[in-house]
Amino acid sequence: MDINEIKKDFPIFKNKNITYLDSGATSQKPQYVIDKIDEFYKNYNANPHRGAYSLSIEATQKYEDTRAKIAKFINAKTPEEIIFAKNATEALNLIAYSYGMENLKQDDEVVISIMEHHSNLVPWQEVTKKTNSTLKYMYINKDYELSNEEIETKITDKTKIVGITHVSNVLGTINNVKKITEYAHKKGAVVIVDASQSIPHMKIDVQDLNVDFLIFSGHKMLAPLGIGVLYGKKEILNKMNPFLMGGDMIEYVHEQNTTYAPLPNKFEAGTQNVEGVIGLGAAIDYIENIGYDFIQKQEKEVVEYAREQLEKLDYLELYLTPNKEKHSGVISFNIKGVHPHDVASILDSENVCIRSGNHCAQPLMRFLGIDSTCRASFSFYNTKEDVDKLVSALNKAYSMFKKYMK
Ligand code: ALA
Repeated sequence: MDINEIKKDFPIFKNKNITYLDSGATSQKPQYVIDKIDEFYKNYNANPHRGAYSLSIEATQKYEDTRAKIAKFINAKTPEEIIFAKNATEALNLIAYSYGMENLKQDDEVVISIMEHHSNLVPWQEVTKKTNSTLKYMYINKDYELSNEEIETKITDKTKIVGITHVSNVLGTINNVKKITEYAHKKGAVVIVDASQSIPHMKIDVQDLNVDFLIFSGHKMLAPLGIGVLYGKKEILNKMNPFLMGGDMIEYVHEQNTTYAPLPNKFEAGTQNVEGVIGLGAAIDYIENIGYDFIQKQEKEVVEYAREQLEKLDYLELYLTPNKEKHSGVISFNIKGVHPHDVASILDSENVCIRSGNHCAQPLMRFLGIDSTCRASFSFYNTKEDVDKLVSALNKAYSMFKKYMK
């Protein structure tokens, strides 16, 4: 497969002269996905599960077919284990409120890592406070990784929930979630994996990982904004109460009481983001068509090249593991003494798009002793040429700022 041909699948690269290195925030969308959303509105737009007429039945069919497609994509046992949410954040809140609030008791512990995105952190602060349980952190070592010792010290018989990101959105560290899950299960805890930054880059098999919950957003994996997925083991989801109440999640509603619909509808209150679901289905088709083997090969080549080139710039501070095998497509860095927003603005003047800030990971920033970083994040549509443009824009930024440095 030719990478230059692949790039042509993404209309934004024809319409804008940009070097896009912010796929960790959101990926660009291929024409195939855009067309499938267009086709939905032009040919079968109706509200699924709400009409007896054929148009609504067709919309329902496509909506449910996508659920089955996602189940197959991540190797869930059944489509009922796939719940649609607005985004990864909403999916994590669903677990925190419907599982955490119901199951945590005083003195129980929730263990998360210091590299969690606020979405897998703030809900646990809230729920542990309300249940008088304790929130504990697994800290990273000097290589920006979680050591076995740290995992085994923090996860104990008191731990009831472990929340862990598969790939850090700041450091790119790949956590060994299979091993963490195995250990947490031995201690009787359930495991929630945030796969938002991993699923765009690697094959996920929930049965192999044996996680209890796994969540991700669509928009980082070529799908539209506003669609997220919650996977949960059926036996656990069945015991949980709904998170949001309203239309379509009910069985019978009486004046004072309601019985709830079976899975998955129990967790899908209100009209859903059908175009998002259709777009996510199309994104999966696109990914399967090019294949994770190609994605991984392409990303490895470009990210390793980026690491090499950035490591040569002695004015940069890099925040990443030396272990290439444990690193995915995110590189955080700072020009020593220059605020990341200033760096990002200079890069923007060179049409290079990166993210700057705390990346919704303030506790991690504090742990690292910094306020913020610049972050270049990669997708399979990036090339070595994109890296060269990043490096030349960084050299420009450095040459502008160095005269002000001590
Ligand atoms: N969570 C997204 C990021 O890391 C928005 O940029």
